[in-house]
Amino acid sequence: MSSSKRSQWNNNIVFIMAMISSAVGLGNIWRFPNVLYSNGGGSFMIPYIVSLFLLGISFVLVEYAVGYKFKTSLSRIVYSINSKLEPVAWFILLVVFLITTYYVCVVGWDLIYLVLSFTKAWGANPDLYFANHVLHANDSFAGLATIVPNVLVSIFVIWIVIWLIVKRDLNDGIGKVCRILLPILCAIVVIIVAFSLMLPGASIGYAQIFTPDWSALTNPNVWLAAFGQIVFSLSLGMAIALTYASYLPDGAKLVDNALVVAFSNSGFEVFNSIGIFSILGFMTFTSGIPFDELVTEGTGLAFVVFPQVFNIMGNWAYLIGPLFFLCILFAGITSAIALLEGVAYSLSEKFDASREKAVTIACIAGFLISSIFATSAGSMILGIFDSFLNNFALLLGVLLECIIFGWIYKFDELIATLNQYSTVKVGKLWKIVIKYILPVCIFFLWMQGVYSTLTSGDVNSLIVRIILCIVLIIVPVILSVLPSKSNS
Ligand code: PHE
Repeated sequence: MSSSKRSQWNNNIVFIMAMISSAVGLGNIWRFPNVLYSNGGGSFMIPYIVSLFLLGISFVLVEYAVGYKFKTSLSRIVYSINSKLEPVAWFILLVVFLITTYYVCVVGWDLIYLVLSFTKAWGANPDLYFANHVLHANDSFAGLATIVPNVLVSIFVIWIVIWLIVKRDLNDGIGKVCRILLPILCAIVVIIVAFSLMLPGASIGYAQIFTPDWSALTNPNVWLAAFGQIVFSLSLGMAIALTYASYLPDGAKLVDNALVVAFSNSGFEVFNSIGIFSILGFMTFTSGIPFDELVTEGTGLAFVVFPQVFNIMGNWAYLIGPLFFLCILFAGITSAIALLEGVAYSLSEKFDASREKAVTIACIAGFLISSIFATSAGSMILGIFDSFLNNFALLLGVLLECIIFGWIYKFDELIATLNQYSTVKVGKLWKIVIKYILPVCIFFLWMQGVYSTLTSGDVNSLIVRIILCIVLIIVPVILSVLPSKSNS
């Protein structure tokens, strides 16, 4: 990983599989169905597809071109464009790292549910079980003093798994794991969707996807929601595409690759949501609970609504339940390793450390921070981390990347890099999107995030946000001023 012995993908297929695995994550499984439902159902596909083409793929192309051209880590690329901007790169990487720390915790919760699902151990009231038995939730900072052992152990296990994968050689570690897990993940989703379509009441659910509300299209928030989903789902601005593209051997068809990855990721989430909606339709049909009360997102959907569904599914739940949680586990692990890789790569390049050393340090630090979420106050703090980092910090990172690569760097060189071997070419339109349209859209999305961050939350949120702001300013500056062997 350090500059002297750069890693390289064995072939283009491994790269594509690693990219798809990194993009397909929790966001595809539990975020997309809710976003789709709350923003016009079937008609949402129009802003979604427009955002995918115009903005999502365009930005992935920036990261591909930059990573492929410079063949190094984000921090070194930004440093070489303008050394004064190095803290911006570390800011982005720190945001990614902090996201990884709570992402791992959610994957850890999923691991617990995977075990519980074999016996439906959550009992008749999954809501209370999740809050009281799994999280031991206490919404005050006093909860920091109480460790929740089962969550701590599962977080530890997930960090060990990540460490074991990422510390290995690129192809033997990340490459191999993605090659194995991605097909299994797809097979599980096909089984779940096929099964869900046969459930009584399934049509109540999937009809929602095919019932458009055209009036939603005139609502700018629906367009912002579509764009926000693309940012989240394609993991834009997280330096993943940039890092993975920097490992590509010469002759890569960058634009073609970006199209394959983006279509696969979106195809996955649309297909998967047919299953999720059908299962929720079954729940409405069987229990009479209105459909809109069931379509929640995030942990509420996976760890409360789905266990409720499994409770009324009979014996099939002993098969579909574990498969569902296994699906989230695989999708989560392959995204988490990608999040960590970019951070570890930048650390290894900056300090000229080996892959193993950089990954080990990042994993130890990550586990220590994740431990905060293994306390009774953990779920409260996790919620604050999630909304602050996603709505505010991550979007700011995407905006900064647009400015650095679109305006400060000699942008036209990226067009040549992308077109060199690709069958599909980019041109003026792409330049206009990256320089003008994308920053404006991100800016509006960001303002929306800033507004919701400022107008929501209690004193606890305020305290955590202030701490995060201080950390996000100080740590990048420290990392930038620390002497680097490889930048010199
Ligand atoms: N795109 C992935 C997902 O949908 C990875 C991701 C991780 C995105 C963390 C945002 C935040 O889960």
